[in-house]
Amino acid sequence: MKITVIGEELKNNDALEQFSIDVLTGLCSKPKMLPAKYFYDDIGSKIFQKITSHNDYYPTRSEFNILKDICSKLPKVLTDEEIDIIELGVGDGHKSKLVIDGFKDAGTKVNFYPIDISREAMNLLKENIKEDDQLSIEAIVSEYFQGLKYVREHSKNKKLILFLGSNVGNFNIVQVQGFLRRLWLTLGKEDHVLIGFDLKKDINKLLSAYNDSDGLTRDFNLNLLTRINRELGGNFDLDKFQHFGTYNPSLGAMESYLVSLEDQDIKIDELERSFHFKPYEAIHLEYSFKYIENDIDFLSEKTGFEVIKNYYDENKYFTDSLWKVLK
Ligand code: AVI
Repeated sequence: MKITVIGEELKNNDALEQFSIDVLTGLCSKPKMLPAKYFYDDIGSKIFQKITSHNDYYPTRSEFNILKDICSKLPKVLTDEEIDIIELGVGDGHKSKLVIDGFKDAGTKVNFYPIDISREAMNLLKENIKEDDQLSIEAIVSEYFQGLKYVREHSKNKKLILFLGSNVGNFNIVQVQGFLRRLWLTLGKEDHVLIGFDLKKDINKLLSAYNDSDGLTRDFNLNLLTRINRELGGNFDLDKFQHFGTYNPSLGAMESYLVSLEDQDIKIDELERSFHFKPYEAIHLEYSFKYIENDIDFLSEKTGFEVIKNYYDENKYFTDSLWKVLK
């Protein structure tokens, strides 16, 4: 597996400086917030992996079942002899492997380009997907759009973009349109995208997925405070914050908060200041938007795609939506 690193990977100092600026901005905001992208340090990524296989967290399991079902159907829609599959954000490779194997079984040659900012993510992938004469892999360590630009310059085949796992749900309604339109700009007329959308459903099902019975989601959220303590010299006492995962039906989104259990001041050495928390004051951490079919149609139309088909799991908890680029 070839690994291509594009541009300068953010040097440690730059990354730390950006983290401190974002924490400062977030904790000065009203209401307080911290960006969800900082969940994923080494410990956070490991906790997230555990969340994805927890019984209460249905999205990963549901999507896996969809992909198992449709992997032999996709090559009937994308019928070329050779295809470039580009995955934005890389998990452990199990889901990508299903899609790739579907094409290989149909006799299609696959060039796989996973794109992720983390080199670590590529190592996990390397364990699970192996090259052979029907499959070449070039892992690209970069931001999504830098990586896509690189693939566009190097590929001559039709492309299938995979944006799985309901990652799209962590964008708000403005961000998601910007992201998808930018994606559209990088693609050609015959290209397709397969996007994982978590669907609106019984609120209790949502609540238990984001408040799992083993407290993994709680630990995942609290780990962000541990990260601030370790990397920025903070003195958050984890016992003085409570995880609160709730559903906002007006927004159609799960929301994650950490709530201060008392009146307290948190000092962060690197920022040379303290932040005051009133009793029960919250820090907002994450949105996880849930969709219905109309929302998906609206988004695709707004951003220049045509929905070819929504593929569902048997419970209709999740959909992988196959879109074609309109140009
Ligand atoms: C990464 N993302 C799709 C997950 C989600 O469901 O929004 C992150 C997550 N947060 C809590 N549990 C899982």
